[in-house]
Amino acid sequence: MTCRILLHSINGRTRKVGEELAWELGAQLHEIDIDTPEHSLAGRLMTRLSSLVARSLSIAVPDQPWQRSDLLILGAPVGNGRAARPLRQWLESHPDLPARVALLLTSDEADYPAQAVEDLTTLTGRKPVAVLHVSDRDISHGTWKGRLEHFLDQCVVRYRNSA
Ligand SMILES: Cc1cc2nc3c(=O)[nH]c(=O)nc-3n(C[C@H](O)[C@H](O)[C@H](O)COP(=O)(O)O)c2cc1C
Repeated sequence: MTCRILLHSINGRTRKVGEELAWELGAQLHEIDIDTPEHSLAGRLMTRLSSLVARSLSIAVPDQPWQRSDLLILGAPVGNGRAARPLRQWLESHPDLPARVALLLTSDEADYPAQAVEDLTTLTGRKPVAVLHVSDRDISHGTWKGRLEHFLDQCVVRYRNSA
């Protein structure tokens, strides 16, 4: 099974979870970056933080045959209740996606990010085969790992069923 992960992360939490998923699934991990023309550290930081809520950004997405994956996991932090802008912006460009998409969302609130999931379902045109929501508290306490197996099972079992 060819699995790719494409995520955007500002402070590294989404990346950290994505790295663990990549390890468990033997998946390739890719990141959506934003171009930060400012040269100062503060300027770059401001651009990165605004990426959660900005209207339009200059983004860099690796050139990969996404549609040829058996599973594509899309990951992003939640900002103002929605998935971070860089991921939504890429999806708005109508990239070719595989049939099976799963979601990874991180947020500081413990509540399930229903709005962000709904948005991404619409933008991808796919009902996600699995959704992993990890709060900042889950990450600092390591409690998200208890849900990891269920997420991986959903990704893999549903693959077997549809293969
Ligand atoms: C500008 C900004 C807006 C945010 N808005 C929300 C929000 O609406 N809901 C939420 O639960 N978390 C919100 N967060 C928290 C991030 O989603 C959370 O810290 C996430 O783990 C960051 O992921 P990262 O480390 O990969 O960047 C916001 C963070 C920032 C910087």
